[in-house]
Amino acid sequence: MSFDLVVKGGVLPDGRRADIGVKAGRIAAVEPLPEAVEAGRVIDAAGDLISPPFVDPHFHMDATLSYGTPRVNASGTLLEAIDLWGELRAVATAEEMAARALEYCDWAAAMGVLAIRTHVDVTDPRLAGAEALLSVREATKDWLDLQLVAFPQDGLYRAHGARENLLRALDMGVDVVGGIPHFERTMQEGAESLADLCRIAAERGLPVDIHCDETDDPMSRHVETLAREALRHGLGARATGSHLTSMHSMDNYYVSKLLPLIAESGMNAIANPLINITLQGRHDTFPKRRGMTRVKEMQALGIPVGWGQDCVRDPWYPLGAADMLDVASMGLHVAQMTHPAEMARAFTMATETNAAIIGIDDWGLRPGARASFVVLDAGNPVEALRLKPARLFVVSNGAVIAESPRGAARLSLPGRPERVSRRFSD
Ligand code: FE2
Repeated sequence: MSFDLVVKGGVLPDGRRADIGVKAGRIAAVEPLPEAVEAGRVIDAAGDLISPPFVDPHFHMDATLSYGTPRVNASGTLLEAIDLWGELRAVATAEEMAARALEYCDWAAAMGVLAIRTHVDVTDPRLAGAEALLSVREATKDWLDLQLVAFPQDGLYRAHGARENLLRALDMGVDVVGGIPHFERTMQEGAESLADLCRIAAERGLPVDIHCDETDDPMSRHVETLAREALRHGLGARATGSHLTSMHSMDNYYVSKLLPLIAESGMNAIANPLINITLQGRHDTFPKRRGMTRVKEMQALGIPVGWGQDCVRDPWYPLGAADMLDVASMGLHVAQMTHPAEMARAFTMATETNAAIIGIDDWGLRPGARASFVVLDAGNPVEALRLKPARLFVVSNGAVIAESPRGAARLSLPGRPERVSRRFSD
């Protein structure tokens, strides 16, 4: 059998060694292939980790790469960031947003991120963000699975016209229904917004992905309503609660009732560790709460939990590198997921779990799946989390779309042999 592309000698995340044969954009073989295999291109990946692509299930592409415009977030809080974004949003053009988003997509490709669910603010009636990101979705469709969420940043009811704008954005082709119940004027209006949004999602057959309880207020319990409304409309895995940071501060007895309800609903959860470790707890002195949701505790009940990046170089977060290993590494630290099995799970969350949460089901290192994967300069998932190494080859739908050189240090240390080290675990 001949292939378009063969990757030889790689190590799969479960430790198996296998060659991968690609034909017509699909994985045709995951097995030892003969030395003289016929292929358009052969990549030597001896000892290198081959992973399903990284997936970012929670991002804000309309705001990315705008850090410092109109000025930096001096307080570091979520609320100042929302104000700054409001100023930028009022003057941003669709062309400017699309240019920043496309630059970010290039960066994501180089880092092996081949699917992104991005929220797009629909507060401004011009819907410039939706227009921009719909054009970016079209421009990148050959290599990137880009999903857009209609996100009423300033509140579905609190911001004038936001509900109508959200419906218009969905009519334009935006894929997912978004919301922000904790930012509505009252708890009651937050709950009503969730009932409304879940009904809209059910009627249109769309997923719903809510910025839910992104606050340190332990009484912010909108996730309870989200789970209830997901159950009422049978949304199941089409419903996702993002952030869920109030759960960090909630009373444990209440959480013991809440988590089974979330599990019963079949909904997903997304933690955004880089952002919530920096934004939350800003009103505390010491002890200072670290506002990440309860990851292991939800997973123990079978609730799918993913890692999202949320922000890169925008009013909310000055850092970020389109690196889902950076996100997973922060997440496993904050969640204290340091058992080998937990670290392996932290890696899988950034790849297969995230893909499942946003509804991608034809990826994976198996025959018949779409030929999208990443070759990493690491020997196994834990080493990848530890080193955040080069993405040597990024393959999307059978095509090599990015290549990076191996990291290597040339050592000239007194009393030590001269050597070039590729990985310090070598
Ligand atoms: Fe977000």
